[in-house]
Amino acid sequence: MDTRSRIGVVPVEKQKTPYTLTAILKRLFPYFIAEKNRFLLTFVFVGLKIASDLFLLLMCRSILSVIESWVKGNARGGAHSIAYLVSHTIAMDTSSFTAADLPWLVGIMGSVVIAFFSVGYFRSFIPAKLISNVTFAMRRALYDHLQCLDLFFFDRTRSGEITSRLISDISQGVQVFGMTLTIFIFQLIVFCFSVVFMTRVSVPMTLLVTSVGVLILINMLLFVPQLRDRSLAVQKKLGVISGMANERFGGIKVMQSFTNEDMELERFTEQIDNHRSLTINLARLSSFTGIFSQSIPLVGNTAILGMGAFLVLSGKLTLADLTFLWMMRDHILNPFQIFSNLGEQVAIGLGGLERVFEFFDERSSIKDMPGAVPVKQVNGAVEFRDVSFSYPSERGQEVLSHLSFRVEPGMSAAFVGASGAGKTTAVDLLSRFYDPTSGGIFIDGRDIREFEVESLRDNIGVVMQEAILFSGTIRENIRYGRPDARDDEINAALKMANAWNFVAEMREGTETVIGERGVMLSGGQRQRIAIARAFLKNPRILVLDEATSALDSVSEHYVQEAIERLLKGRTTLIIAHRLSTIAHVDKILVLEKGRLVEEGSHTELIAKNGTYAAFHAQQFGKGKGA
Ligand SMILES: Nc1ncnc2c1ncn2[C@@H]1O[C@H](COP(=O)(O)OP(=O)(O)OP(=O)(O)O)[C@@H](O)[C@H]1O
Ligand SMILES: [Mg+2]
Repeated sequence: MDTRSRIGVVPVEKQKTPYTLTAILKRLFPYFIAEKNRFLLTFVFVGLKIASDLFLLLMCRSILSVIESWVKGNARGGAHSIAYLVSHTIAMDTSSFTAADLPWLVGIMGSVVIAFFSVGYFRSFIPAKLISNVTFAMRRALYDHLQCLDLFFFDRTRSGEITSRLISDISQGVQVFGMTLTIFIFQLIVFCFSVVFMTRVSVPMTLLVTSVGVLILINMLLFVPQLRDRSLAVQKKLGVISGMANERFGGIKVMQSFTNEDMELERFTEQIDNHRSLTINLARLSSFTGIFSQSIPLVGNTAILGMGAFLVLSGKLTLADLTFLWMMRDHILNPFQIFSNLGEQVAIGLGGLERVFEFFDERSSIKDMPGAVPVKQVNGAVEFRDVSFSYPSERGQEVLSHLSFRVEPGMSAAFVGASGAGKTTAVDLLSRFYDPTSGGIFIDGRDIREFEVESLRDNIGVVMQEAILFSGTIRENIRYGRPDARDDEINAALKMANAWNFVAEMREGTETVIGERGVMLSGGQRQRIAIARAFLKNPRILVLDEATSALDSVSEHYVQEAIERLLKGRTTLIIAHRLSTIAHVDKILVLEKGRLVEEGSHTELIAKNGTYAAFHAQQFGKGKGA
């Protein structure tokens, strides 16, 4: 089992698709079992609700029967006991009830109504809580599982896909199996009881009501799929439109700088025009089907009342029984209505859960080896031994081949090479974002795969090529480097990173909110925040992937100074795009298409007059030193 999946009911075995209904239910069930008290209570309260529901209708029938025979001049005699009244009401044998029973009957009914309301509260609250808890547990487990997956997974999975499975797929799936299906089962039970009670009153009336139900079902089966298809098309188009607007307005600068507004408007118009016709199409069909869905109940009710009136007038049915049948008819009709789109709901829920469990079945290729140990005291010797690597998405194409080098503790080495040479990839391997295809990476002589991944990463500080900040305040972003850091430590880190001045100038200082991904900061400022974060983490080994975007010379000076301070006393791997950054490193490693082509100090490499010297000449002009 993936040792980093700590929380929740994450199944152990990797399961291959297809996910059958039983397979999905088997995996969903433990989440409900974890809530077993609430789960059982749901059944108890729904059962009580059904019982009180049916009992109320039977009580109504008893009361109406007594009133009816009383008005007709019958129902004489003394009062009966409560037990007698209740049992005879359930048995639907009210012929012996008397006018003296009436206050008791009303009293019983009043008490049941009060009980009914409190049961109603729990009946709807407990399942709702059950569903919220299951959704919560599943989301938490999936989030924890996902955040431990390797980068291969994130390279091939769109982030929108992740959010949609985490948010809507989970809630839809849980809703369908926790609520919709349960409700249907209970409706079915109510239906059966209702049929039994109704046939005891009048078989022809029961048949009539049931056939109205069948008509409703046929109508829905005929039109619902078409309505759903059209409404799905509308939803899909809406998704396209909102995606388009998001992307375009997210990149408004590009749009405006290329002055493509007219073209963009045309594209947008085409999409919303399309959406308009789809909506009209949907409205046309739903108006048409509305004729049937409204007229069937209307005609049905008329027929039920007509036939009922006929039976009453011909003495075959009492008025009380007709009223009883009338009140009962919803219990017969509801299941038909629910059944018609149950299949669809279950399919949607199953689809969602399948996608969720698919993610649960993703296994990280980066995991602790059996017997992995935490990194203890790190001296900081870093060594790559014959490391080759290729991304699975480009199988066979080696991004790094037979890379070997060693950096002594506290020393610094810089990667130099053209864009795409594999510099970022090489340092990613050190943090085990990926594992080498062959060869090994060693820290203080031990293969890094022998260390626990988390503790390995705790000892490596990374300042990435694109300084990644999260929305929130500057303080929160720096604290990310060490969550338990004190405020004065954060301020010290800011000073060390040359970020104090610009942060102090901001109106709210370290409490300034820097917007999504830190958009409110300049490139150089973002980098210095990222450097401050690394200062706070204070790792033995440091990886610095220099930003590609050029900084102005003042910013560069500040960043450079902060970097030099950060390097002191740490083993450092720097990726340099500006050679001025690496004038003082101990060793320069020149990468070309994933191969190490030159290695040595600045002076040595200049003297060698090879690739590095050519790079250098390109950036500084021949003959000048760095
Ligand atoms: N996640 C990925 N999946 C597949 N291929 C990748 C991935 N990341 C990088 N590559 C490929 O690997 C090669 C090396 O990329 P890398 O990012 O290591 O280059 P780099 O030397 O850091 O370049 P730059 O100077 O532009 O940052 C490139 O050809 C790139 O297309
Ligand atoms: Mg890079």
